[in-house]
Amino acid sequence: MSRWTRRLWGSLTLASAAAVSATATVGAAAASGAAVATADALYSEQYRPQFHFTPPQQWMNDPNGMVYDHGEFHLFYQYNPYSNKWGPMHWGHAVSRDLLHWQHLPIALYPDRLGAIFSGSAVVDHANTAGFGSRAHPAMVAMYTYHDHLSENLGHTGYESQGIAFSLDQGRNWSKYSGNPVLTNPAVRDFRDPKLFWHAPTQRWIVALAAADHVAFYSSRDLRHWTHESDFGQDQGAHSGVWECPDLISMQVEGTTQDRYVLLVSIGKGGPNGGSATQYFVGHFDGHRFTADVARPDLPASVPRWFDYGTDDYAGSTWSGGARGDQRQLFIGWMSNWQYATDVPTQRWRSAMTLPRELRLVDDGRGYELRSRPIAELAALRRTAAVVGPRVIAAPFDLTGAAKTHGGLLELDIDLDTTGAPSSELQFANERGERTIFRINQAERRFELDRSASGAVDFSAVFAAVQSAPWPGTDQRVRLHIYLDQSSIEVFINDGDTVFTALVFPEAAYDSVVLRGSGAFGLNGATVYELGSVWR
Ligand code: FRU
Repeated sequence: MSRWTRRLWGSLTLASAAAVSATATVGAAAASGAAVATADALYSEQYRPQFHFTPPQQWMNDPNGMVYDHGEFHLFYQYNPYSNKWGPMHWGHAVSRDLLHWQHLPIALYPDRLGAIFSGSAVVDHANTAGFGSRAHPAMVAMYTYHDHLSENLGHTGYESQGIAFSLDQGRNWSKYSGNPVLTNPAVRDFRDPKLFWHAPTQRWIVALAAADHVAFYSSRDLRHWTHESDFGQDQGAHSGVWECPDLISMQVEGTTQDRYVLLVSIGKGGPNGGSATQYFVGHFDGHRFTADVARPDLPASVPRWFDYGTDDYAGSTWSGGARGDQRQLFIGWMSNWQYATDVPTQRWRSAMTLPRELRLVDDGRGYELRSRPIAELAALRRTAAVVGPRVIAAPFDLTGAAKTHGGLLELDIDLDTTGAPSSELQFANERGERTIFRINQAERRFELDRSASGAVDFSAVFAAVQSAPWPGTDQRVRLHIYLDQSSIEVFINDGDTVFTALVFPEAAYDSVVLRGSGAFGLNGATVYELGSVWR
């Protein structure tokens, strides 16, 4: 049974009266063009994230088609409107002006005779290269993968191809191009997830596509006709799973005049802490070919560089375009893992996106490193702030006294000097004794995230495993920037040098945050913010 059949089978066996009636709700709302659910009715459920994007109901996976246009950030996403499990894929749709408050819109793309609509990207065709709009009223153009389940079930190989669709009203209504597919399958089973960008030096569109064990690059002058340029990656990076959702991004190395291209590649399994994860390569792209720099002269090219060490940040990519003067590369990922995405203990909806992040390319003396940090806009969610001054932590210290945490929505900024404590940790806990622990294992120079007793964990055999990441360098100082929502924790260490994004499902919100160590260590300072919900 193929991976896809397995996913689909799961959803079909669960298709029930409940799923059918939920469909009716979505359909009715879609027909009226209104937001599909009111926050009051749905957004106070157990585990429902309060400042992360979730679909109002049913199944979501990858973020798709992120594009900025007329002041709006568009977020499309892999969506099954019929069930809370993966199934026939559509593109769900939402828009936001600040990347925090989202307005749900009707489904943008439905499956058609060529197949279900898998992941892809979108751009605004300002020069009207495809001819779908005009220079005065440019079209928004989406490129996505057609996955033909029928052809797959008949045992054919080429069941994935690429199609395009366009919108002339800022993403509200979509027409599929009559000449689809625009890129047929070169006899590769996995041939998907086109990520488009305009390559100004050669005045052409480039698309990066995942083709089983490598990324294939194609070029086009009009988005309709595509020419194969090159392939990258068969002998580089991690290969224990299928390659998916590539994104090729041009970035300036922070504080320099140097430019590099960063290639993000998601990989279906074999991540640093198990299951699906995202690796990256830094290098050059000349309009035809991507070549990776030698990441670390001391390491072979096959050693992967991980974007996020947490288990729950997959299939992410960046927004196309942005507000005038905003040069940021803005990223969002799917906050789950194919190891257990279908089994997490939510019912009405399944899956959230990560926090939106700003990507940075930094020369840290060991080479060019891709870092990410939460977007500055998140500061608007702060309700109260409590500052804790410098002190020695010789006994468990309750940071909770500093802030109201009853809602369990927290942001923490913590600066530690771990000298003196072979192990120091932050424990997020509730009165039931459920806890998530972030540990700085100085003895082994590792960071660890332990969710083994975080709440519901038994829905999966692997969810409780302790996650870890190497602690690079020799410094004893650790700066932490942490976001806690109803069912997730995101830890940005040392300005995003190392990141953990992880789901947690506590029965009740964590209402205490305790700092402690196996020896006395220093707290240079901390600020604890209580955050508000975006739904109220
Ligand atoms: C990644 C992925 C993509 C595919 C989509 C299908 O999670 O497997 O490769 O396009 O999900 O929903």
